[in-house]
Amino acid sequence: MPDVNQWYYSDKVKEHFFKPRNFVTEDPKKGEFNAAGEAGSLACGDIMKVWLKIDKKTERVKEFKWRTWGCATAIASTSMFSEMVTEKGGMKISDALKITPKDIVLRLGGVPLRKFHCSVLIDQAFRNAAENYRKSVLGTHFWRID
Ligand code: FES
Repeated sequence: MPDVNQWYYSDKVKEHFFKPRNFVTEDPKKGEFNAAGEAGSLACGDIMKVWLKIDKKTERVKEFKWRTWGCATAIASTSMFSEMVTEKGGMKISDALKITPKDIVLRLGGVPLRKFHCSVLIDQAFRNAAENYRKSVLGTHFWRID
């Protein structure tokens, strides 16, 4: 169990901060992805944007791109989350929605407690993208849970 009182970044946080996975420096072109979401942090004023390619048949997340005006923890958390969601052919969107910021932080080997809110940013942006996809592409009121 990571030490929540730590004041240092784990090797995993540093690895994902210095080499972020699935990061883009510009917004993708319209129509390139079939879901998009955004979230801002009241705690620090930072912003997170995410774009997804969700396979309509399998409901798996095939691609996950993101960019942020956020700190090292936000970058590392989002990079890790993007890996968790897309590894092994992509998670079903309903399963990806079960991942919590705590799960991301555990995979990173912990973050300083004061930086926990930074990992919430991608959670909110991802939920926003999934919700937009559900409404606009599927046109349903609920996610199908297997
Ligand atoms: S301080 Fe703003 S996302 Fe971390």
